Amino acid sequence: MDRPLFTRVRALARARLGSGGRLFFASGRVNLLGAHIDYHGGCVLPVAVDRGVAVVARRRDDRRFRLASAEFSQSVEGDLDALPTAAEAGWAAYPVGIFATLEAAGHVLPGLDLVFAGDLPVGAGLSSSAAILVATAVAVAAIADFPLAPIDAARFAHRAETGFVGVKCGIMDPFASALGRPGHALWLDCKDQSHDWIALPTERMAFVMLDSMTRRELKDGGFNQRVAESLSALAKLKTRLPKATCLRDVSVEDLERHRELLPDLEWKRARHVVTEVARVRRARELLARGELLEFGQLMWLSHLSSRHLYEVSTPRLDALQELSLSHPGCFGARLTGAGFGGCALAVVAPDAVESFAEQVAAGFERRFGERAAIHSLGFGSAPSEVEES
Ligand code: GLA
Repeated sequence: MDRPLFTRVRALARARLGSGGRLFFASGRVNLLGAHIDYHGGCVLPVAVDRGVAVVARRRDDRRFRLASAEFSQSVEGDLDALPTAAEAGWAAYPVGIFATLEAAGHVLPGLDLVFAGDLPVGAGLSSSAAILVATAVAVAAIADFPLAPIDAARFAHRAETGFVGVKCGIMDPFASALGRPGHALWLDCKDQSHDWIALPTERMAFVMLDSMTRRELKDGGFNQRVAESLSALAKLKTRLPKATCLRDVSVEDLERHRELLPDLEWKRARHVVTEVARVRRARELLARGELLEFGQLMWLSHLSSRHLYEVSTPRLDALQELSLSHPGCFGARLTGAGFGGCALAVVAPDAVESFAEQVAAGFERRFGERAAIHSLGFGSAPSEVEES
């Protein structure tokens, strides 16, 4: 039986476009550890999840495109020979960014009708933007009939988000969406793009998404500001550490030795990055050995560092993290994604998920007067075409 998301997007496509079209799906992600270090060349540990973005795609005989989405009332139409800017395109900046980057790389696209729907909360730190970018890249390549390996879909997605949409994000989200594997975390080295998959002790860990019920838009400033502050720290450190090409190359000891070079704020940003880089290295060993208690402590430290040093948390995310830790079935919890609102992720013993969700929801409601949306997340996999069942 089709999952509800696929039924929904097919129905919307039929209403907007009539019959026909092929369906594709790309996953969102949670990041187990490695906050805000992908754009500093660090290693990260994301997991593709079973929620994401579905798109029905149909070829046209001209060079026009029509884009519609279940999440946004406004449809966007245009011409591939006169693409709108990101600002003009609004939500459609993501698919239009893929058209722009594919054509800039020499792929001549046919006209396209694309209809999207997703089951990730938008702007909540679960990579709805990477999922729409990767889904579009995979769908367009299939419809235009050129081969596109998943890793290249990720690279085009990253280029579209940084170059067209204008968010200075790292490579983690599109790579996590494109290279997901059930039962595994992706070990992604963001300096050289090398990667590997780490088998997780799935029978002992469940992922729970805790939605703070507030949203942020990455292009609204906070994210790019953190990038600028931490890159400014790197520039100053490089005057003494000329071999460092990114903050990942700076050790905790290096940073402390040259602390006087940095204003307090930049030291805090850099301190988060260099300690988080070290935590992720340790996490890889712990996860591979199935040491979930110790791994959970690293999630906790990561959250504190994101909160006090990188300053991307919010009182609601802090409350979700604290409430999580007071449940005995929870190994660890931290904000996932960029922060500034959105979701926290908790790793919980599978048989404790129900009582955990109850307890956290009740505590959150007492404090903020509304219920947090709390859902279990399963594993996703690489993007693919979905056959009609
Ligand atoms: C967003 C960005 C990613 C990454 C995370 C923070 O999701 O898109 O590249 O920087 O924030 O870890």
